[in-house]
Amino acid sequence: MELRTLGTTDIQISPILMGTWQAGKEMWTGIDDSETTKAMRVAYDAGITTFDTAEAYGKGHSERILGRALSDVRDKVVYATKVFANHLKYDQVIQACERSLKNLNTDIIDLYQIHWPSGVWGLKKVPIEETLRALIELKQQGKIRAIGVSNFSRDQLAEAARYGPIVNLQPPYSLFWRHVEADARPYCVENDITILAYSPMAQGLLTGKFGPDHRFESGDHRAGNKLFQPQNFQRIQQALDRLRPLAEKHGCTLGQLALAWVIAQPNTCAIAGARNAQQAAENAAAAKIKLSTQDLAEMDAIGRTVTDHLDKDPVMWKF
Ligand SMILES: NC(=O)c1ccc[n+]([C@@H]2O[C@H](COP(=O)([O-])OP(=O)(O)OC[C@H]3O[C@@H](n4cnc5c(N)ncnc54)[C@H](OP(=O)(O)O)[C@@H]3O)[C@@H](O)[C@H]2O)c1
Repeated sequence: MELRTLGTTDIQISPILMGTWQAGKEMWTGIDDSETTKAMRVAYDAGITTFDTAEAYGKGHSERILGRALSDVRDKVVYATKVFANHLKYDQVIQACERSLKNLNTDIIDLYQIHWPSGVWGLKKVPIEETLRALIELKQQGKIRAIGVSNFSRDQLAEAARYGPIVNLQPPYSLFWRHVEADARPYCVENDITILAYSPMAQGLLTGKFGPDHRFESGDHRAGNKLFQPQNFQRIQQALDRLRPLAEKHGCTLGQLALAWVIAQPNTCAIAGARNAQQAAENAAAAKIKLSTQDLAEMDAIGRTVTDHLDKDPVMWKF
């Protein structure tokens, strides 16, 4: 897979990253440790060098699985993890980083991201300056290589950047969820900040595998995803029907087409979540698909038949 440069750093990342929220098990159902471990190995063998995790994914379980799965190739992979919004005070950031280093079985985290801005989910507000002070110190100590943010608006990103170099933004971004385009993307492009798009297959919807009557098992957080609500379903199924001929033309699956679209956007790589080896391999192969300007324009128009009807709230879930 042809690597890309992460923001203003000298870190090389794969355009398709593997997302490992699933490996944390919490908020998903039917996840098996041996399957997620195998998925990580298969992703690596298929050319994915960059892995996204978080302390919040199963209270470190995802980080621990990742640290074990790739320990023998640690020097060939990039670990991106995150500090959660309940650990943004100076001491908490330092401690969270130490825990993540241990979980990941490494002495340096390549990319350390603030998972959500302070004050979300009713959590306590911490001045961004304080959080950045801790992150910069960790960088100076050689415990992290680069600093990033996730779920920040343009204004929050610009404010954070006043206190230290921010190399990436990790927003929700897919053909069916495009709030970042109008908000933070111009700022990212202007300032060479990489967009690492999460939920690039709209949590599985863009693979076309969920029919209109799909019900998630209890414990699967996707029941709270706004895109899975009945009022969006008809438009989504119609959009998928219009995407199918394009997937056929490229000899790929709908999920691969969705990933190819994301990585063709300015400054953007895709974090593809996978629960097993088959999904990981299929997702990695999407990096080979080359969409023409006309394909991209067609997909853009199809995506808008869904996104034009969504409200302005950039958060994808209603819990
Ligand atoms: N920063 C944040 O706040 C944040 C939020 C969300 C996600 N993330 C990160 O982004 C990653 C990806 O996001 P996501 O998992 O929410 O969404 P996603 O990547 O759009 O979708 C992942 C889901 O799609 C299905 N899938 C994936 N590959 C498939 C394939 N080849 N064939 C068929 N189905 C396939 C699987 O569903 P089934 O499980 O039903 O098989 C999988 O769980 C996460 O793992 C995490 O690392 C970050």
